[in-house]
Amino acid sequence: MIPELGVCYYPEHWDEAMWAEDAAHMVETGITWVRIAEFAWSRLEPVPGHFAFEWLDKAIGILAGHGLKVVLCTPTATPPRWMIDRYPDMLAVDGAGQPRTFGSRRHYCFSHLGYRAESVRIAQALGERYGRDPRIHAWQIDNEYGCHDTVISYSDHAKIAFQGWCAQRYGDIEALNTAWGNVFWSMEYTDFDQIALPHLTVTQPNPAHELAFRRFSSDQVTAYNRAQAQALRHATDAPLIHNYMGRILEFDHFEVGADLDIASWDSYPIGFLSDRLDASEAHKAKYLQQGDPDMQAFHHDLYRSVGKGRWWVMEQQPGPVNWAPYNPAPLEGMVRLWTWEAIAHGAEVVSYFRWRQASFAQEQMHAGLLTPQNVPAPGMTEAAQVAREIGQIGAITQKKADAALVFDYASDWCWTTLPQGADFTYFRLVLEAYKALRRAGRTVDILPATAGSFDGYDVVLAPGLAQIPDSLMQTDSKVVLGPRTGTVTEELRIPTSGTSPLPQFSESLPPDHKRSVQDAGHVVHWQETWDVADNDQTIISDDAGKAVLFERDGQFRLAAWPDETLWDTILEHFIAAKPTGDLRVRTTQDHIFVINYTNEDQNYQDHIVKGCDLAIFKDGTRIL
Ligand code: GAL
Repeated sequence: MIPELGVCYYPEHWDEAMWAEDAAHMVETGITWVRIAEFAWSRLEPVPGHFAFEWLDKAIGILAGHGLKVVLCTPTATPPRWMIDRYPDMLAVDGAGQPRTFGSRRHYCFSHLGYRAESVRIAQALGERYGRDPRIHAWQIDNEYGCHDTVISYSDHAKIAFQGWCAQRYGDIEALNTAWGNVFWSMEYTDFDQIALPHLTVTQPNPAHELAFRRFSSDQVTAYNRAQAQALRHATDAPLIHNYMGRILEFDHFEVGADLDIASWDSYPIGFLSDRLDASEAHKAKYLQQGDPDMQAFHHDLYRSVGKGRWWVMEQQPGPVNWAPYNPAPLEGMVRLWTWEAIAHGAEVVSYFRWRQASFAQEQMHAGLLTPQNVPAPGMTEAAQVAREIGQIGAITQKKADAALVFDYASDWCWTTLPQGADFTYFRLVLEAYKALRRAGRTVDILPATAGSFDGYDVVLAPGLAQIPDSLMQTDSKVVLGPRTGTVTEELRIPTSGTSPLPQFSESLPPDHKRSVQDAGHVVHWQETWDVADNDQTIISDDAGKAVLFERDGQFRLAAWPDETLWDTILEHFIAAKPTGDLRVRTTQDHIFVINYTNEDQNYQDHIVKGCDLAIFKDGTRIL
């Protein structure tokens, strides 16, 4: 596959007279895809029922006329003002019971069926007009489900839908009472319509109730997306895409992805480093203008899996963003490096957000490839450079990774509901395991718990996985379970029957408390005490003699949360490390990509890889 570049463009933000010049400039830069219209509902349907497609026809005509392939979006992340008049109760309600208000975006509740029907209606209208239009090469549905904390809504619509969801899941109310353990504090119900949403309770609501509500909320996103996907399927054969946002965990992306053809995600490395990475201040300082060296790759590998092999970066940070607490600029070379890294992980398209920086409204301080005065910004030069380099490098073919890591959204909901330690964060645990595999120079496939097979890997890591699927117990790969893996049922209870072994007890540890493991690192955040039997084989124990890693019946149990050094020691038992220091290496069928997120020159097998730069090797020869 030969990768391509794209850009996010907002014709409705600019004078029509600029469109043709913009299109020509995109082509000159080496861009082949352009995504449009995801926020344009007020211009597409200014008055309910009266569509104004002429401007969009013209924009598509100009862009396609220059040879650009168009990704057309449904504009449902931005319901126009008249929609709120039509459905005042469509706004999502926050945990304090307050409706969110009009005036930004994503102001809808996934459970409002009136708004869902409106979303289908606009998708159908766009589908009818453009579904068979050969200039439209792909569709994006909505924009970043879950961004701005928009999955969970405590509206009356959500409550009624949740009661119906419970009735369907449990059949009768006694079954629900039993499953949730409602006898505990006299929380028993006699009817499904008594069930409220789990907020505003005096103290913690029943975790089973909370988990059920989280599952339901995720299902609502899937159902909402599916309704639009079905409407578009009737109208078009072009691939359907959603653009997921980094570290949004409140809905199951694998389930949404099952209804789509391509997964895409929005990659803002510097914004993420400051606003959603659990890391030390020293680490954040080192990578302030580059982003964390594993956060992007983790998402690339995740969305390759969500997209069943087909994935894009729909929005790539081009310069400073506007939304993190502080917004430094990328160091020179980073926009190019991020783009190449995505390509190395299999991105079919990397699309920059956005073509020209806006001079108005919320994101006027967010960089584009052009400044508001139409002067090329530094990102533009780097995008053009990548386009030329793609021409030299040609096709790239992915191959199965060395190791697999299981990633499961429902496990995050379990531990968010029942953390037991203030900093027990599932995402952090999984990302740290991923980082350890990368430090060992190994490639990683990220698989859902529902993957039919985990075979053929040197090692499969399953940290924090709430339940253990049978396929993980039956694989020919070596599997490392834990910490906390398989310790709760689907109803968030401690299993009292069945074969899954459990620790005698678990401890959460405050941030500055570390437990030493000989010279091999430390246990942090979490430690389990297991009754290790004579025929179990202890591989690593801590200074107090507690098993940290042991083998039982062919399965490996990790009984603690390891720090970096301990992760490295643990992995040595399973996979031959090819340590690469601060460099990151991605191996594909014919190429090796060596990526340097640091700002200093690094050595890779007698080659210098400059700071914020990369090297590409083919058949042992450096070709970039
Ligand atoms: C994304 C979003 C874009 C834009 C961008 C700014 O989350 O999809 O519309 O807001 O962030 O970085």
